[in-house]
Amino acid sequence: MIKIQNTQTYDLFDGLMISVREKEAQGFQNEKVEKSLKQLFEKELFIGKIGESYAVTLELGDSLKDVIFLGLGTPESFNVKTFKNTLADSYRLLQKKKVSHVSLNVLAYTEAFCCENRFFRSVGEAVTLANYDFNDFKSDKKDHHFESLTVISSSAKEAALEEGVALGKATLLARQLTNLPANILTPSKLADMAVDAGKESGFEVEVKGRDQIENLNMHAFMEVAKASAQEPKLIVMRYNGNPHSDQRLGYVGKGLTYDSGGLSIKPTAGMVDMKTDMGGASAVIGAMVAISNLKLKINVTAVVAACENMISGVSYKPGDIIQSMGGKSIFIGNTDAEGRLTLVDAVTYIQEYEKVTSVVDIATLTGAAIHCLGSAGSPMISSDDTFASAVVNAFEKAGENTWRMPIFEEYKELIKHELADLTNTAGSPGTITAGMFIGEFVKDIPWVHIDIAGTASASKPKGILSKGGTGVGVRPLYFLAKKMAD
Ligand code: BES
Ligand code: ZN
Ligand code: ZN
Repeated sequence: MIKIQNTQTYDLFDGLMISVREKEAQGFQNEKVEKSLKQLFEKELFIGKIGESYAVTLELGDSLKDVIFLGLGTPESFNVKTFKNTLADSYRLLQKKKVSHVSLNVLAYTEAFCCENRFFRSVGEAVTLANYDFNDFKSDKKDHHFESLTVISSSAKEAALEEGVALGKATLLARQLTNLPANILTPSKLADMAVDAGKESGFEVEVKGRDQIENLNMHAFMEVAKASAQEPKLIVMRYNGNPHSDQRLGYVGKGLTYDSGGLSIKPTAGMVDMKTDMGGASAVIGAMVAISNLKLKINVTAVVAACENMISGVSYKPGDIIQSMGGKSIFIGNTDAEGRLTLVDAVTYIQEYEKVTSVVDIATLTGAAIHCLGSAGSPMISSDDTFASAVVNAFEKAGENTWRMPIFEEYKELIKHELADLTNTAGSPGTITAGMFIGEFVKDIPWVHIDIAGTASASKPKGILSKGGTGVGVRPLYFLAKKMAD
């Protein structure tokens, strides 16, 4: 539970996080806190720089309390991203100390540090995100969670705090979906979880099975899905927040609940983490939850073509020429380049049947994305400068990194094939050509493609990130919708 309160009564808390402006040891309404800070400043153990934190034990009220000082820096150096990460790390540290009731003192906050709303939203987000670990399958769960977090502040920005908490929760749902192993999170289970999320948050979810997918002529999607014993599911989520508008934003997420590579089989090392190949689906489901819970005045439809890329006697094969819902034929150079095949049919479907007026697709699409920006950012491409900069701004607002890659004229040849309209293996630069392949199926509407192969999963917990699924994209897609809402 997170709440805002005006006055600090130390007796109520066993853990305290105290935010400190650089070199300012005043205004804490407590002598012991001020004395301790001054000592730290003198010894230069902690001076309140942004990103700095320091843990001490102080006797406050009637007992010893675990106290963490958090550096806010100066108005010039303050930055929201670092602040969120420091807050999340401190929160985890207090959790390890088995603290139950925590207060976060933001009395030292001034409006000069950007805007109050953003500050409170960050607090809500950071503490919610730090409060998660994927340990569902461990018999001896060692985790300890807070019972309450009280934000001590003279200005009660409840709505901003709640927005942060809601964004945090939606991101945690995305992380959980990404983290669930492929034997549990099958396409059907993913669809069920989307249905549950829709019921809880207030958006409509329609799930189509194999027969309906075939009847829609989603040939490329079916080629990828057909070798698996798991039935593919087309998950369609609709949120109608602005009935007066004829605009509808479209989100398409890659939903490979497992990617073995198919006949172009991956080595085991490349396969173990392929439960995360539905990180794009996690992002759009999480975004729908956030958009719906926070009641944005906009219409959004999200689509996930969920399936597994497996091997059997009926697998699609390297050398095959297949059809697509959009009508273009595709040469299969490699069955491991499956994501784009499922995505192009989803992109065709969302334009033809859902009548979206702009579309973003998000996918763990290419290993090459890791070579582009590593795990620090998600490369994107776009056909539309205005829409692209709206997406870039939304990432910025969410504190996530993206970088728009170019579509040079010279690349256009690379996705063509002598025997078919297109090839699914266009070669270098793989991230851009994979995106351009999807772009071939976008008609006259603004489109952005985001590759999250490097960012959907984290190798270790750090700041607001937990190990495993990151929920990347949830918050940027929320902020994009918020910006586009009337
Ligand atoms: N799901 C993978 C991409 C991926 C790789 C995601 C590593 C996360 C981490 C995708 O389906 C794939 O295998 N892409 C191939 C395409 C190639 C065969 C043209 C790749 O990137 O190697
Ligand atoms: Zn693949
Ligand atoms: Zn894949």
